[in-house]
Amino acid sequence: MSSAEKYRALKGMRDVLPPDIYVWQKIEGIASGLFASYGFSEVRTPVAEATGLFTRGIGEGTDIVDKEMYTFEDKGGRSISLRPEGTASVVRSYIEHQLHTLPSPQKFYYAGPMFRYERPQSGRFRQFYQIGVEAFGSSSPALDAEVISMLRHFLQRLGLDQLVVQVNSIGCAACRPGYTGTLISFLGERQGELCPDCQRRHAQNPLRILDCKVPQCIALRQGAPKVMDHLCADCRQHMELLQHLLTGLEIPFVLNHEMVRGLDYYTRTVFEVTSGDLGAQNAVAAGGRYDRLVSECGGPDVPAFGFAVGMERITELVKKTLPAVHPAPSAFLALLGAQALYEGLRIADRLRTAGIWTETGDHTASLKSQMRKADRVAAAFVIIIGDDELAAGEFRWKKLADGTGGSAPFSALSSFFCGCS
Ligand code: HAM
Repeated sequence: MSSAEKYRALKGMRDVLPPDIYVWQKIEGIASGLFASYGFSEVRTPVAEATGLFTRGIGEGTDIVDKEMYTFEDKGGRSISLRPEGTASVVRSYIEHQLHTLPSPQKFYYAGPMFRYERPQSGRFRQFYQIGVEAFGSSSPALDAEVISMLRHFLQRLGLDQLVVQVNSIGCAACRPGYTGTLISFLGERQGELCPDCQRRHAQNPLRILDCKVPQCIALRQGAPKVMDHLCADCRQHMELLQHLLTGLEIPFVLNHEMVRGLDYYTRTVFEVTSGDLGAQNAVAAGGRYDRLVSECGGPDVPAFGFAVGMERITELVKKTLPAVHPAPSAFLALLGAQALYEGLRIADRLRTAGIWTETGDHTASLKSQMRKADRVAAAFVIIIGDDELAAGEFRWKKLADGTGGSAPFSALSSFFCGCS
């Protein structure tokens, strides 16, 4: 076995290389610009946290905590987990730095890798990237609507108009227990026919039976009571106002009363944005309200709302809508001889300092071979520098796109590239 075969990226983890990385950078750039215009600031939290933060925050009995965490003991015997998502970490940071003492709402965004030990498939990875946002300090549905609207603008700027926003309310601590009781009675004797996962959910988290994809569970829950019909007055009002505001913001949405999400911290609003172009893993973004998570993690009683976008899934879609990006150098210096190398490196240095992407040729190679190289890297201009040019104080140039060329004094080199860096 060769060493190249021995070391490969781990299953479910992958490299992001050019040209894909340009799409990633474009998406991240659009996100940070747009989110800033809504008052969101970037935060960077560690990729590893105490395991308890996730078991507490995301919830025991969820697939993420029970089956998917990368958990290990550090050398000091502490249980550590790689973050499977960003919300719990941002909440921890919000509490730790007492950000609740600052004026509300406090709004943050983050971008980075998350880790879940899932079965890898198209659109599902073990290390994947999210761009997420979390807004703390308002229980008004206006916050839900504004944040969903920001997500929509973000997707629109990426050319993604055809996505469906699905919304549901899963109630609060006051009304949810009553609803889950109704659901359990509805399943009654038939609960024994649920899939093994749902049998477990039936005892731990019955709501999650609603979004199980196993055919026998889909059949068993036909005609089940809808959580939306069992909301308390406050939750109902929240949902009604949210729908009104989404309509005012011209955000098309559908109510999906079976959507409950795979994390336990949600209260009231949950939502997902899905695409018909992605196959089974079709959720490109998801989120909701989590009014109790901050207090459950030891902080004050602060309501919050957020979402996360899956970078791999969004990139797949963006690659279909945006023209491919192939950045190329503005200048390729064809250097002929040792003196040209000396001057050429000084010139390249000046051009790069001025922000002009400059490549240099091999000064020992022929002009023909350096021209071929310039062509391969698709440089805009070739600048030819040899003994004759240095003696005359003028460089020769050639524009590769149309073959035009000429000469100009070295003193004019930077201004020659104005506008093409
Ligand atoms: P989530 O639904 O678990 O929510 O993940 C959000 C998005 O991350 C998904 O819609 C999907 O695009 C992407 N994603 C999740 N798992 C994978 C995977 N294994 N491979 C590739 N992409 C994946 C959360 O993580 C919440 N923290 C969202 C949130 C923020 N809620 C409130 N604030």
